[in-house]
Amino acid sequence: MSTTTELEFRIERNSSAKSDAEVAEILQNPGFGHYFTDHMVVIDWTKDGGWQDARVVPYGPLMLNPASAVLHYAQEIFEGMKAYRHADGTVHTFRPDRNAARFAGSARRLALPELPEELFIESLRQLVEIDQRWVPEYGKDQSLYLRPFMIANEDFLGVRAAESVSYYVIASPAGSYFQDPTQPVSIWLERELSRAGKGGTGAAKCGGNYAASLLPQQTAYANGCEQVLFLDAFEQKYLEELGGMNIVLAFKDGTVATPESDSILASVTNEAILELVAEAGHKVERRRITLDEWREGAAAGEITEAFAVGTAAVIAPIGTLKATDFVIENPPVTLDSLSMRIRAQLTGIQNGEVPDTHGWLHQLV
Ligand code: COI
Repeated sequence: MSTTTELEFRIERNSSAKSDAEVAEILQNPGFGHYFTDHMVVIDWTKDGGWQDARVVPYGPLMLNPASAVLHYAQEIFEGMKAYRHADGTVHTFRPDRNAARFAGSARRLALPELPEELFIESLRQLVEIDQRWVPEYGKDQSLYLRPFMIANEDFLGVRAAESVSYYVIASPAGSYFQDPTQPVSIWLERELSRAGKGGTGAAKCGGNYAASLLPQQTAYANGCEQVLFLDAFEQKYLEELGGMNIVLAFKDGTVATPESDSILASVTNEAILELVAEAGHKVERRRITLDEWREGAAAGEITEAFAVGTAAVIAPIGTLKATDFVIENPPVTLDSLSMRIRAQLTGIQNGEVPDTHGWLHQLV
């Protein structure tokens, strides 16, 4: 099997790349997930030949046979990361080793081949280097969102792990995931449908988990909410996670807690946030949290904040949890709220304004 050091990236430049003026216009207001850069990374894998043919090619449609396994059995995984422009023009990403490890874990669960960490990080560097003019300028609270993903592309309808796979990285300039990152979001409580069950794929970052969240997410929208909260599949009693991000609760006594479950996707952002919160002197708990604990704690004024955390969302304060039979209203958020202070610290590290004492940043360009 090819190792990273044996793989040289070949580069095919996009002859129809967007003009500087077009890129500048897009960067005025990129939103989230609407626009894609001029190039993408592709690396193929076969059972017999391992990883091969690493390349940077023009961004464009994939040629897939209709029998491709991913289209039938959803053998697919992905990651979400960001590249940040610093004041001196350099471009950095955040803890890529953690995303590489999570991607490898997702690959194991979905019976896909593991991509070596070194090759994963090099693939990000290759794409960001060639498309660096797409990394938004420093100081605008924007970044270049990186989406590595892997699909089974063997043309075979038998149900087994595919013997031919491709890995890609695409990139998309990103502003805030929610409309206003400082405004609290509302969450809809899903009580019938589950995102993932015990022994399922909940801890892997695979498309199927997100597909399972879409119908409840529609219910959330219909009820005026931006995200959906799932409970555990077995008892519908314990908090799990939101459709696309983890949840954290803050208590009046300074404790900060996040649900622990083997069907939650461990968020790299959440891990960093909890580390910063612990360093700020808070007691941090990763444990099972019941919905009743949140309801009773909020009613008694013991639970003072709730926030959604993830790469795309960073930290979004939760204003309201709505259910068919009750509503939790959290106190208004101020710049002094824990969520806002930690958000400022985390984004400060990512943007190069706060010293990176943990060695979390990795320079790409
Ligand atoms: C991310 O936070 O990077 C994700 O992949 C979640 C998705 C909802 C955008």
